[in-house]
Amino acid sequence: MRFPEEYVFSIMDSLVIRGTMRPKDLKTRIFLDGGDPEETREIIRLLGFLDGQTTNPTLISKNPRARYHLERGEKFTREEILDFYRETVREIHELIPEGSISVEVYGDLLTFAEEMLRQAKEMFSWIPNAHIKFPTSREGLKAAEQAVKNGLRVNLTLCFTQEQAAAVYAATRGAKRGDVYVSPFIGRLDDRGENGMDLISHILKMYQKGDGHVMVLTASVRKIDHLLFALKLGSDIITLPFNVLKEWCERGLPVPQVDYVYHPGNFKNIPFKEVDLTENWQAYDIRHELTDKGMERFSADWNGLIKA
Ligand code: E4P
Repeated sequence: MRFPEEYVFSIMDSLVIRGTMRPKDLKTRIFLDGGDPEETREIIRLLGFLDGQTTNPTLISKNPRARYHLERGEKFTREEILDFYRETVREIHELIPEGSISVEVYGDLLTFAEEMLRQAKEMFSWIPNAHIKFPTSREGLKAAEQAVKNGLRVNLTLCFTQEQAAAVYAATRGAKRGDVYVSPFIGRLDDRGENGMDLISHILKMYQKGDGHVMVLTASVRKIDHLLFALKLGSDIITLPFNVLKEWCERGLPVPQVDYVYHPGNFKNIPFKEVDLTENWQAYDIRHELTDKGMERFSADWNGLIKA
């Protein structure tokens, strides 16, 4: 027997919003963290919705079509790999035309802001819904500041401290809410024994004193509990790898209830700091070794795709 669609939706109303599988009380936007449009397709099929996607050079280097070429010893020219990134991003755009798609500039430790900005302008023209990712380094912030002035949407990635998030806020002052994301990387802090979720909580608290123009995008998520706690904290956006999103779906898209408690295990707490948001961005201490390491890793993975 087939139930009319309306009846099925009314049964499911306690769990989902009509027309999508989005849980009714889910305010946070959910992104896929990946560089393979096949995963995007599969996640939309499983979840029934997807609010956006983040990509980065490492994720592009893991794309099965890129791997196929590499395994045959066929590396790309600089032009070809950029074309490949553009085509991949366009394919994702076709799947989530209304969602935001983050595209990352190439930035190693020697890349100047001017070069990042040049790439950003080109990448921003690829699709109508791009946020351009810059590293939260001195040159990255300098480029992002100019990008915002040029009307680009930006996502400051590889953020590991409250001071870096304060610098993002200051460098992009005046931008419209939704045009600026900051991506704190929780998994990479966990990896070295620090409680990455503390950073999300502290940045959200610090931003309460601001004008709300920067949205917090929880990144480097490794497990369901990162997702649940970030939802409970009220992160604006969370980007999740395919496997975590799939597991969330298999568990019925749970959202944390009031009594939900996150257990950070033996991780060291990161203390909250009172940081004034009214400074000039250059005044903040923005160096962090994981930002430098992250830039090195992203650029090495990208360069690994390119012919010598
Ligand atoms: C997303 O924008 C980030 O690039 C990504 O979440 C990093 O995740 P990782 O720390 O697992 O590489």
